[in-house]
Amino acid sequence: MLIMNIKQNFSIKFFNTFGIDVKAKYFVELNSDEEIISFLSSGFLKNKQFLILGGGSNILFTKDFTGVVVKINSKGITILKEDEDFIYVKARAGEVWQDFIDYTIKNNYGGLENLSKIPGSVGASPIQNIGAYGVELKDVFYQLTAINIQTGDIIKFNKEDCNFGYRSSIFKNELKNKYIINSVVFRLFRKPVFNTKYGAIEMELRDMGINKLSVSTVSEAVSRIRKRKLPDIEQIGCAGSFFKNPVITEEELKNLKKDFPNIIAYEQPDKTFKVAAGWLIEQCGWKDKRIGNAGVYKNQALVLVNYGNSTGKEILELSCKIENSVFEKFNIRLNKEVNVL
Ligand code: EPU
Repeated sequence: MLIMNIKQNFSIKFFNTFGIDVKAKYFVELNSDEEIISFLSSGFLKNKQFLILGGGSNILFTKDFTGVVVKINSKGITILKEDEDFIYVKARAGEVWQDFIDYTIKNNYGGLENLSKIPGSVGASPIQNIGAYGVELKDVFYQLTAINIQTGDIIKFNKEDCNFGYRSSIFKNELKNKYIINSVVFRLFRKPVFNTKYGAIEMELRDMGINKLSVSTVSEAVSRIRKRKLPDIEQIGCAGSFFKNPVITEEELKNLKKDFPNIIAYEQPDKTFKVAAGWLIEQCGWKDKRIGNAGVYKNQALVLVNYGNSTGKEILELSCKIENSVFEKFNIRLNKEVNVL
């Protein structure tokens, strides 16, 4: 067996983007598929609670973790195959998402530019089907491989096996804690087709003086918008959107519009409507509010932040207060996007 350094009572403050200072009873970093397989076969996880960690960018720790935190660090990007239209690129799970984006930009492979600057790792990206600016991971996803935690078998999952939905997949539901994703294959465009319709991208490109679209310029526009709206996690701890945008029926929207004519909602292909949770929270007066060290970000009310030494409990309490006021005012229940532990 490979020798792995299993740390005990280890602070994971620098392994979660909220920057919450809690301890893991055991903490291990695995740097390759061989290490993952070897660690699983060692039996160390047997009868222990465990958490597979990528970039720690979608998690709120409210207490010490009394089991094993397994951080996946395996790196590597390879081209699997290509044809006239597409290039199939495989990235190992521990690649930092933005490093992978940088690689696609450098090579002018299209499809991921709208997902620029999302914190996290490649391996975590399919779990919640990350999305931004009109693109979701599933739009460029081809296949992944994952290691069964019980048996050590490596299994391939095609797109339809993953049950992708809005910030969701089979790995967040039926197969939660059953597999470690070890690589993801993306089907990227050799002749990029750009998706600039969403939100402020076109306006940003105009401001930048760009009239010829490229993977790099669209990525730059997205990065600039994100920089304005979202905190820099190096400075202020957060986990992106804390809640999902709630989905309601046309009937419910009609009724809400009687009292709130300015409500922001987007029609979905199935005729339901996704309501902008940031708007709902702002209307309840929460934007830029701060309770102790926890707060609601000044430029985007869907983002809860840690201004310093906040505990996870403080942020959770703030989130409950927000949920209650949104429910009282709009009769809508917000669901968390962030995993609370
Ligand atoms: N809005 C407000 N007040 C706010 C925030 C937003 O009125 O405080 C309004 C905006 O003016 C806009 C609408 O709400 O009209 C939507 O806002 P925005 O475009 O910022 O996007 P969002 O729906 O709040 C979602 C994703 C983000 C993603 C952006 C851009 C979810 C839960 N969040 O946010 O993803 O970056 O769209 O595509 O779907 C994440 O998941 O962690 C994340 C950051």
